[in-house]
Amino acid sequence: MVEERLVKSRQRVADHGEVFTPRWLVDDMLDLVKGETERIDSRFLEPACGSGNFLVPILERKLAAVQARHGRSDFEKRHYALFALMCVYGIELLADNAAECRENLAGTFARYLKVDASSEWSRAAAAVLAANIVQGDALKMTDASGEPITFPEWGYLGRGKYQRRDFHYANLTQRASFQGTLFDAFEEHEVFTPVRTYPVMTVAELDRPLVEPVETARPLVEPVETEDAQ
Ligand SMILES: C[S@@+](CC[C@H](N)C(=O)[O-])C[C@H]1O[C@@H](n2cnc3c(N)ncnc32)[C@H](O)[C@@H]1O
Repeated sequence: MVEERLVKSRQRVADHGEVFTPRWLVDDMLDLVKGETERIDSRFLEPACGSGNFLVPILERKLAAVQARHGRSDFEKRHYALFALMCVYGIELLADNAAECRENLAGTFARYLKVDASSEWSRAAAAVLAANIVQGDALKMTDASGEPITFPEWGYLGRGKYQRRDFHYANLTQRASFQGTLFDAFEEHEVFTPVRTYPVMTVAELDRPLVEPVETARPLVEPVETEDAQ
C-alpha cells in the first residue's frame, strides 16, 4: 500500500497549518452527507482545499453517479461528467497546492472519460478548473492579485450547451447567511447579482477567450432538471 503523505514540511505546518486529511477520514466525513456527494449537480466548495483530498473523492462520487445514470450514452456521460466537475470549487492559499489540486481533479476526470490531455474534454476541464479552483485567501476573500474572489455558477442546459455566470464570493457567503433568517425579506437581487454573464457555450467553446461584450445581470436560462435535482 502506498503511504499517504500528510505533511510536506514542518515549516509549512507552522506557517500555513498545512496537514492533509487521510483518505479514510475524508470518506467517513463525506458519508455524513452521502446523498449530496452522490448528486451530480450538488455544489461543493472547500475554502482550504490543499491538493484536493476532499474535492477529488467528491468528484469520484459524482462521476459514479454519472456512470449509473448516463453511462449508456457516450454523449450524456461526457457532458454530465463535465457538469459534475463544474460543481466542485476550491480556494487555496499556496500556488503549488492549488496547481496540484487542479491536476488531481483533471486527472480524475480524464481517467473516467479515458481522454488524453489534448482532447477538447481535457481542455474544457482545464478551463473550468482554472475558474473553479482559486489561488487566494479564503478569509480575506481575495485572489492572489488581491482582487475579490469570483466563482462561476455553471449550468448544463442539455444538448451539449453550458451556461456561466460569475459571482463575487463575498456575495455568495452573504446570501448563504441570509437564508432562513429575518433577512429573507431582502430582495434577491440585492445580494445575488452576477458580476458577469457569458454567452451559452459548447464544450469546444469553454476554453476560448471571451470576445463578445459581456452583459451583467442577464437572467439565467433555466438549466435542465437533472434526475438528481428531483
Ligand atoms: C489543514 S490543510 C487541509 C488541506 C485539505 N483541506 C485537506 O484536508 O487535505 C489547510 C490548507 O489550507 C491552506 N490555507 C491556509 N490558510 C488559508 C487561507 N487563509 N485561505 C485559503 N487557504 C488557506 C493551507 O495552505 C493548506 O493547504
